[in-house]
Amino acid sequence: MRPFQICPSILSADFARLGDDVRAVMAAGGDVVHVDVMDGHFVPNITFGPDVMKSIRKVTDKVFDVHLMISPVDPYLEAFAKGGADIITVHAEAGPHLHRSLQAIRALGKKAGVSLNPGTPESVLEYVLDDLDLILVMTVNPGFGGQKFIPACLDKIRRIHAMIGDRPIDLEVDGGLTADNAGAIVAAGANWLVAGSAVFKGGEPAYKSNIDAIRRAALTARGELV
Ligand code: DX5
Ligand code: ZN
Repeated sequence: MRPFQICPSILSADFARLGDDVRAVMAAGGDVVHVDVMDGHFVPNITFGPDVMKSIRKVTDKVFDVHLMISPVDPYLEAFAKGGADIITVHAEAGPHLHRSLQAIRALGKKAGVSLNPGTPESVLEYVLDDLDLILVMTVNPGFGGQKFIPACLDKIRRIHAMIGDRPIDLEVDGGLTADNAGAIVAAGANWLVAGSAVFKGGEPAYKSNIDAIRRAALTARGELV
């Protein structure tokens, strides 16, 4: 089994004090910083670009997992790589040249990820499996935090887990994740869990207990709770 990681989505952070909030959530037990970039075109919402990401890069040494919900994506890969991304994930639906985007990310010295919307079949991954480091399964339609998990996606997670086999690929799930469904998601084969509202709800005093609850559910499902 690949290591388990909790990835707080900073889409749910307080943007007026973004750096402090990112520092606080990682100190509370977050493993990976999940950075949601939206363009108001590929998805119906706008967040922030590489300069904002670059400025929060300074507050933590943790891995930056950058989820690009933008189209076209290729012209912006270099800016996110230079801005401090460790993993850059593009959407399979965002352009006609998925393989080229993955090649470009690796050529920039970064890990490459592919994300699939809930309506996209896992077959799009078949011929790029050896060109990626991370698969991100969206379990809500991307664009907003706080939506409800789509249960039909569990089956897709299971299928993708089987496709991965023993390749060194992390399987990440994003959207509507809570301490109540984390166990089922991990049992289906995911090892990276993104959570926005479930981590940030209740404000800073609650971050640690929110993260602990998700981790407990996930580790129990993995049989790793000590
Ligand atoms: C949605 C984003 C997610 C989102 C998750 O488009 O990709 O990362 O912030 O938020 P929750 O956990 O609230 O569904
Ligand atoms: Zn995301």
